[in-house]
Amino acid sequence: MDVSTYPIDVDRYAKCIEVSKRVRWDIDRDVIRGRRFDFSQKFLPDGISKVDEFDFLNDDDKRLLSQIQGRTYANMFGFVERFITAKVLEITRDHWLGNQTVLESLIRFCDEELKHQALFRRIEAMMAEGMPAGYTFLPDPDTVAKAVLKNSTWAVLALILEIELFTQEHYRQSIAPDKNLSELYKDIFLFHWKEETTHAIMDELEWPREDSKLTPGERDRAVDELIALVGDVDGILQQQSLADAAYFLNVCGRSFRREEIDRIKAGILRAYRWQYIFSGVGHPRFKAVYESLTTETQRGRVATVLTTLS
Ligand SMILES: [Fe+2]
Ligand SMILES: [Fe+2]
Repeated sequence: MDVSTYPIDVDRYAKCIEVSKRVRWDIDRDVIRGRRFDFSQKFLPDGISKVDEFDFLNDDDKRLLSQIQGRTYANMFGFVERFITAKVLEITRDHWLGNQTVLESLIRFCDEELKHQALFRRIEAMMAEGMPAGYTFLPDPDTVAKAVLKNSTWAVLALILEIELFTQEHYRQSIAPDKNLSELYKDIFLFHWKEETTHAIMDELEWPREDSKLTPGERDRAVDELIALVGDVDGILQQQSLADAAYFLNVCGRSFRREEIDRIKAGILRAYRWQYIFSGVGHPRFKAVYESLTTETQRGRVATVLTTLS
């Protein structure tokens, strides 16, 4: 389709601006408010960390593992937001001229993600203060962003929508209802969630618009790129889950049997795959757009790869 004739739903972008103005927050004034993390509480709820699967861990072990996973969870957002901002900023080019409401909504999206990255950098330093030395977050945001951005916008937007939907889902389903989490940790994801709600809406508008530019052959190649991106994400999850398991085993203050160590490593990887891949691709709103843009054969190719990860 000729891009200039693509029907743009300006009202939906305008609604995003309205929400963005209403929920806007400041890192210090609204989120941190001079507080520190309460290390006597969990960070990530069990529904996300899946630490309940480890019947051989005591409550202290589970709390520590929830904090380690919670630290990685925050770092993951700061890290993916690097390529999300770069891609959305690139997309704004299509809207430089013409409707300025659409442009403003996407600029706000980028501005919010820049602030989120700053927030996640701040709290990484705060979490480091209260935890034993030795934690490492492996992926470098710029290196990964460069690799991700080599793919077509179609494939990257698919990944972005998936991420921005699971962000909201995790908060609503697991973080919000849990009364036993570090209050500051919980608030970070409350405020993050407030600004993320509009992002997924803009992704849902921009992905089909991008799709309208592609020929069937280009779209088919984009599906292959999406499959490769899922593989890349999984490679990162494999490395980080091993690093987090090693850190946990080093600092938990007791030893485990060989079989228990294997279960810890496999369990963290399974939790990460659920957190960053399956809870997003299984989201009804992701499926709705994805199914409208792809053929059954293309979805079959993606599903085959996903099966190897479960
Ligand atoms: Fe964000
Ligand atoms: Fe976002």
